[in-house]
Amino acid sequence: MKQKLTAVIVGAGHRSIVYASYAYHAPDELEIIGVVDPAPRRRERAAKEFKLKPDQCFTSIDEFLTQPKKADFVINGTMDNLHVSTSLPLLAAGYDILLEKPLATSQAELRQLVEATRRHGRRVSICHVLRYTPFYRAIRERVQRGDIGELLNVQAVEHVSYHHMAVGFVRGKWARLDRSHSTMLMAKSCHDLDIIAWMKSGVAPMRVSSVGGNYQFRPEKAPAGAGTKCLVDCPIEADCLYSARRHYIDHPERWSMYVWASLEHIEKPTIEDKIASLKGDNPYGRCVWKCDNDVVDHQSVAVEFADGCTATLNMIGGSARPARHLHLIGTHGEIQGCFEDSKFVVRHIDLRPGHEYTEKVVDVKVTGDMSGALGGHGGGDLRLVQDFVRVLRGEQPSISFTPLEDSLSGHLMGFCADESRVQRTVVEIPKA
Ligand SMILES: NC(=O)c1ccc[n+]([C@@H]2O[C@H](COP(=O)([O-])OP(=O)(O)OC[C@H]3O[C@@H](n4cnc5c(N)ncnc54)[C@H](O)[C@@H]3O)[C@@H](O)[C@H]2O)c1
Repeated sequence: MKQKLTAVIVGAGHRSIVYASYAYHAPDELEIIGVVDPAPRRRERAAKEFKLKPDQCFTSIDEFLTQPKKADFVINGTMDNLHVSTSLPLLAAGYDILLEKPLATSQAELRQLVEATRRHGRRVSICHVLRYTPFYRAIRERVQRGDIGELLNVQAVEHVSYHHMAVGFVRGKWARLDRSHSTMLMAKSCHDLDIIAWMKSGVAPMRVSSVGGNYQFRPEKAPAGAGTKCLVDCPIEADCLYSARRHYIDHPERWSMYVWASLEHIEKPTIEDKIASLKGDNPYGRCVWKCDNDVVDHQSVAVEFADGCTATLNMIGGSARPARHLHLIGTHGEIQGCFEDSKFVVRHIDLRPGHEYTEKVVDVKVTGDMSGALGGHGGGDLRLVQDFVRVLRGEQPSISFTPLEDSLSGHLMGFCADESRVQRTVVEIPKA
């Protein structure tokens, strides 16, 4: 019988709860035995879901750490700017941590976390959920096996849909640097940068150049006659592509964890409650062209690796369809696919007369208990927890496992890309 591990949730927001739900799927592997969150409702919700007693619920990390070490690890799902400051005391107290991305909001913070993790001899794994999806894992396996030879170019593309862009980076929590402390590149596409780094695992990224800006979500791009709040003073709301009513009332489940956070005190908010909220001080009721957002809506990144391989990432917000694409060119062939299609093709050079290349389609559709809605991110969310449990039990992790050191290259590429974009210069990437 394998040992069951225990974990405490720090920051009981929607991400932590998703990871913690692994305890339902594998009750013989994981049990949630505590929650730390200053917000009473979040603590109460976690307590209800995981049957926690009052003495297992804490309002702060300081309060939690007055107790002797209780759990095997901590799930840290606080917001971006709290990842490092909340992790440092937990590491010092001997906790291993499953930590949300981005692991830090600056290079200085990143170094602090790495140094503390090494000093205390702990294990920290970053929630790079895409690595755990069948799509990216199957591609990585082929690259690692050398199926397409040596990689000479990696092209990653992330199309952030119009509704995701508006909810996250225009009206929402990652719209302003002084609030989230993460750029859009780090908040959204640090996964894709991590995938690039993973495909080139063991080869350091050397320099990066980046351009981008906020093209669309600014007052001068507002349609003629637009108001400031969709349901208050906007005569064109009914026909607007970004109407809050059409995004959040007509699609009640979509992004509900963000849009209706201010209604958490109501058990089942009605449509009337929601409309009143959007008419009131709910930030998701604002006109997307008249918000206080200061992050980009599109950005391109070009990276050169130590072996001469190059990579690009194009992140574009406002697309009709959300999509992630990956195209790898190797010396013997190529791999090209779209994550949302759960399919990729592997092409090889074909020298036979009358032929140019061969092409094989690989279908990696996810089914089963930890897929789709249950697992999120194509099943990646829960497989990631499963792997961390394995590592802590001394078992062999999967190819996707992300020790902290392995997450540094992608994060450093991102921090330096943002520096390059602002300073309009090529930036040398420091050693991980
Ligand atoms: N891996 C992914 O694909 C993915 C997807 C979305 C978001 N994220 C990341 O997950 C993280 C959490 O996002 P979310 O939307 O779940 O956030 P959230 O705001 O819903 O949850 C954060 C929680 O932390 C609590 N908190 C605040 N200060 C705290 C403290 N000092 N100690 C303990 N708890 C504290 C808040 O009360 C809140 O309940 C963010 O960093 C975000 O970038 C990752």
